Amino acid sequence: MNQVMVRPEVEQFQAYVPGLSIDEIKEKYGLSTVIKLASNENPLGVSPVVQERIRAASSFSFRYAQAGTPALCRALAAHLHVPQNCLVVGNGSDEIIDLLLRVVARPGVDNIVAFDPCFSIYKLQTRLCGLEFRQTGLHTDFSFALDKLLDLVDEHTALVFITNPDNPSGYACAAQDLVALAHKLPQKTLLVVDEAYIDFASPLEHYSMLPQVSRLSNVVLLRTFSKMYGLAGLRLGYGIMPDWLADFVLRVKLPFSVNVLAEQAGLAALQDEIFIAETLRVVTQGRAWLTQELTALGCEVYSSQANFLMFKPPMDAALLFSTLLAQGVIIRPLASYGLPDKLRVSIGNAEENQIFLDKTQEIIREYHHSHP
Ligand SMILES: Cc1ncc(COP(=O)(O)O)c(C=O)c1O
Repeated sequence: MNQVMVRPEVEQFQAYVPGLSIDEIKEKYGLSTVIKLASNENPLGVSPVVQERIRAASSFSFRYAQAGTPALCRALAAHLHVPQNCLVVGNGSDEIIDLLLRVVARPGVDNIVAFDPCFSIYKLQTRLCGLEFRQTGLHTDFSFALDKLLDLVDEHTALVFITNPDNPSGYACAAQDLVALAHKLPQKTLLVVDEAYIDFASPLEHYSMLPQVSRLSNVVLLRTFSKMYGLAGLRLGYGIMPDWLADFVLRVKLPFSVNVLAEQAGLAALQDEIFIAETLRVVTQGRAWLTQELTALGCEVYSSQANFLMFKPPMDAALLFSTLLAQGVIIRPLASYGLPDKLRVSIGNAEENQIFLDKTQEIIREYHHSHP
């Protein structure tokens, strides 16, 4: 039994459930090869250019990083055409989400608004901060019900979270609709647009709020190096926000949360145009191919602007998931998102996509045989 005091928010806290790991599944099912298409990681792995930079930087690991990650902020400012003092780099965009909540919202007073389903970290960190979390559903096709979202907002709404393109559906909303939403919010409410998957959306200028963000006083954009740049394990993400807010966030952020290897990897990744182009090609082709093939198997596939697909299989989704798992293919069940009849699969490389599809086809066929 607890002998010491624990905050009630902590006692009731339900930990984030990550995608299953390859090692866990190898051990559990005695498999020698397992493929993971569960966490929307880069299908090409880590770029060779970035690997080389990490090797070269490793001898500096005994040094503390420079607080505030100024070299990467400078490079990002030039790359994105935004002022440097609007940038905060963090230990993944998860850290920026957590910091924004703690900097802006008052425990026990303010509320946070998001769609249901949404990326679970928004809800978890909101609860941990002692804040009310308000949610409203999406349209049945998973497009954004922005009016319903606005209905939840009041003078105590500190932040509104929107993921664009959305996770887990892959749906993307036009940037101009989000700009219109930002204008309708109360002056003190921040709109946080999480663009973790924006690099995979096309045409980019139709979906990304980047060109407008500097002119909007109540918008924060979140970006990550975990997807397009292949650095999920190094933990690197950033926020683009009004300069006064960036100043507050940087004051409270732990100074060395971005380590020296992550910063160097980020600098190299930004310049690695060949890897970016190849990632985009593999994801775009894989997404179109898997959409077509899953549809042919009788799955309902949702149109996606991200590096994953959400689909409803023509059989019990939990059974398809667990059968694939036992055969060494990890995808993502969506029961924890409140979508028990749907699954999410990350776009892999051509070989991974083929293995996933062959096994899925076999399992669905077998299911139809035994359920005529
Ligand atoms: C919508 C969304 N935001 C943020 C993240 C986390 O990104 P990071 O790895 O930079 O913390 C993810 C990761 O899956 C995500 O899906």
